[in-house]
Amino acid sequence: MLLKLLTDLTLITSGAALVLQDNVGKLPALGWNSWNAYHCDITEDQFLSAANEFVHLGLKDAGYQYVNIDDCWSDKDKRDESTNRLLPNLTRFPDGIKGTAHKVHELGLKIGIYSSAGTQTCAGYPASIGFESIDAATWSEWGIDYLKYDNCNVPSNWSDSCNDCVPDSMHRDDLVNGTCTNTNGLCPPGYDFSTSNTAERFRIMRDALLAQNRTILYSLCEWGEAGVQTWGNATGSSWRTSGDIDPTWQSVLAYLNQNSFYLNYVDFWGRIDPDMLEVGNGLTIQEARTHFALWAAMKSPLLIGTDLAKLDQNNIDVLKNKYLLAFNQDEVYGKPATPYKWGTNPDWTFNATFPAEYWSGSSSNGTLVLLFNPFDDTRTKTANFEEVPNLVGGARYSAIDIWTGGDLGCVDSLQAEVEGHDTAGWLVGTKCERETHVSEM
Ligand SMILES: *[C@@H]1O[C@H](CO)[C@@H](O)[C@H](O)[C@H]1NC(C)=O
Ligand SMILES: *[C@@H]1O[C@H](CO)[C@@H](O)[C@H](O)[C@H]1NC(C)=O
Ligand SMILES: *[C@@H]1O[C@H](CO)[C@@H](O)[C@H](O)[C@H]1NC(C)=O
Ligand SMILES: *[C@@H]1O[C@H](CO)[C@@H](O)[C@H](O)[C@H]1NC(C)=O
Ligand SMILES: *[C@@H]1O[C@H](CO)[C@@H](O)[C@H](O)[C@H]1NC(C)=O
Ligand SMILES: *[C@@H]1O[C@H](CO)[C@@H](O)[C@H](O)[C@H]1NC(C)=O
Ligand SMILES: *[C@@H]1O[C@H](CO)[C@@H](O)[C@H](O)[C@H]1NC(C)=O
Repeated sequence: MLLKLLTDLTLITSGAALVLQDNVGKLPALGWNSWNAYHCDITEDQFLSAANEFVHLGLKDAGYQYVNIDDCWSDKDKRDESTNRLLPNLTRFPDGIKGTAHKVHELGLKIGIYSSAGTQTCAGYPASIGFESIDAATWSEWGIDYLKYDNCNVPSNWSDSCNDCVPDSMHRDDLVNGTCTNTNGLCPPGYDFSTSNTAERFRIMRDALLAQNRTILYSLCEWGEAGVQTWGNATGSSWRTSGDIDPTWQSVLAYLNQNSFYLNYVDFWGRIDPDMLEVGNGLTIQEARTHFALWAAMKSPLLIGTDLAKLDQNNIDVLKNKYLLAFNQDEVYGKPATPYKWGTNPDWTFNATFPAEYWSGSSSNGTLVLLFNPFDDTRTKTANFEEVPNLVGGARYSAIDIWTGGDLGCVDSLQAEVEGHDTAGWLVGTKCERETHVSEM
């Protein structure tokens, strides 16, 4: 009742955050999405397979919940001529999206759909601008729980009068601490991006979703344009900061680097989204560990994007890592882990191939410490407690290795031989009493 009231009231005033009922969107979404695995080549079977694998592989028990349909699900040529509703492609979804939603719900999971704040989706299917209320009502009636809303094919009369930095480059140097320093030809300093047409396009759909008698998580796929970090929290539960990730190590690194400059904007109810996971799509196991660990630590939505039926056990274990998922889903601490030191490069260096290497974050069970090795060969990495926020140099702490679950007992620093592209990680718990470290051996 209180939340319902908050929802109703806060959305009328600008700047207030999007707070949905039943805590939906309070924590990062955990799920699966079809795009990275199948792109446009989708059928209902893939979604039912992902949903069944969630149950079968224990991913559901680990907290994964959303099975999300991306682009290309509808009739490509037309809306319904009398109602203007979007039409499911019945070759791909023989029982319609409503039928698929029912089957996914039967497994105790939720289902997501996709559209764009333009005339067509990125793959050229009918999209939602001008049809927001009709589409939101259609999805609600079908039982949809999540919307990914893209930014393709924006009509010219909706273009913005001035622009932000477009943070899509792998090598930009105009973003410092999350602020664009290149204002040449761009919006003036202090410009309120929440007044942009882009912000308005995304608010119209937010309000259409909120008008439904159904809680639908709203995920903005807005590519980081028009200063979305300044109005994303008021508009959706998460917002993308870039174009599409691809299944390469360079892409993972570039997005990790870029996202690391936006982490001040992350807390409960509003998450930056460095795009979906590529675990299972050709990364080595070391790269998969780094990708998953840092995405979880940044409190990003964690949407798997691979054929789960073909995924090997090592990768499944990464996706189910209980320490990282617990950090990501912490009910008490909303803020992400952040770099406490860059490492190879000076602190705050924006570098798409050498992102920050030394990370920490607070959680209900202690401090998560991650040490990332960007080099190709094995390196010795050390976390000195005097450098880690909230830990005290010279003190000894209990620590657990997040990959093995091994209990290190009481230690005065953390050190590991970290393979190339890999990330070592520990959950550092309570400070040890003097007598404890006597019995450590
Ligand atoms: C429906 O999907 C099939 C591919 O599965 C495609 O051949 C067909 O053109 C689609 N129909 C429409 C109307 O988009
Ligand atoms: C663009 O044109 C459409 C259709 O006429 C109209 O509904 C919409 O409000 C216009 N957008 C802006 C920002 O003026
Ligand atoms: C970035 O922020 C850090 C921490 O607040 C600060 O020490 C550093 O000077 C900032 N860098 C720039 C270029 O503003
Ligand atoms: C809203 O949905 C709930 C549960 O699905 C239902 O019980 C209720 O009658 C609906 N209210 C309206 C106004 O449709
Ligand atoms: C986003 O809004 C929520 C709900 O009001 C708030 O708890 C959170 O701190 C906000 N995030 C940031 C980064 O301010
Ligand atoms: C803390 O530990 C408990 C017990 O193992 C676990 O259930 C919970 O998820 C953990 N929370 C965090 C944030 O690590
Ligand atoms: C990124 O950092 C590495 C390591 O310091 C350096 O060799 C490389 O030249 C940097 N890249 C750019 C584009 O500055």
